[in-house]
Amino acid sequence: MKGMELRSERLVLREFRLNDQDAAHRYGSDEDVTRYMTWGPNSLTDTVNYLSDVVRRASAEPRTSFILAVVTSDGDLIGAVHLKFTDASHRQGELGYVIAKNSWGLGYATEVARCLIAFGFDELDLDRITATCHPDNLASARVLEKAGMRLEGTLRGNLQFRGASRDSQLYAIAANGEAIDRATGVQAI
Ligand SMILES: CC(C)(COP(=O)(O)OP(=O)(O)OC[C@H]1O[C@@H](n2cnc3c(N)ncnc32)[C@H](O)[C@@H]1OP(=O)(O)O)[C@@H](O)C(=O)NCCC(=O)NCCS
Repeated sequence: MKGMELRSERLVLREFRLNDQDAAHRYGSDEDVTRYMTWGPNSLTDTVNYLSDVVRRASAEPRTSFILAVVTSDGDLIGAVHLKFTDASHRQGELGYVIAKNSWGLGYATEVARCLIAFGFDELDLDRITATCHPDNLASARVLEKAGMRLEGTLRGNLQFRGASRDSQLYAIAANGEAIDRATGVQAI
């Protein structure tokens, strides 16, 4: 599935381009945005390498990684969302997202999470989608709950984070689980 675009109520989720570098670097280099992430804050070289990796993965066959730019109706690129196969044979996927600081608190992360969950179940035929977050990342935990995911437990010491091991909260939603808003269109671009 190449050259895809998803639409949610207020946002377009489109393929990244190499020339998205400035917008992607604005949030990727912001230490408030990357505080709980295993990456960043990015140097410009980090952002350039990230974008070339994203573009390369988008053309892989079979495609197992859907990393899309989050764009407002004004055309502003305000973040990224991803859905990746973690185990295709068991139809498992993993969700993640990042939103630029000046766009926090507007419900955008929840909107893109719901959109990608619907895409994962309806178009990729996933059976279960997981997401993890830092135990202190309460905003992200709230987003996952609002998107219909449920806390399954704590993964103890599952990540190396800034020089030490740390826990993660594991959230998941199953295809046969709670109903979510599936009013999402997928179209080729
Ligand atoms: C986490 C993040 C994605 C949230 O994006 P957002 O667009 O502001 O999220 P939404 O507006 O959809 O929802 C945020 C919710 O968290 C709540 N929230 C925000 N800060 C909070 C805090 N410190 N404690 C508890 N809840 C908090 C908001 O009130 C809102 O819930 P509500 O609708 O019930 O009021 C954004 O802050 C971000 O990109 N952070 C950096 C990257 C990141 O952490 N990604 C997730 C990795 S797991």
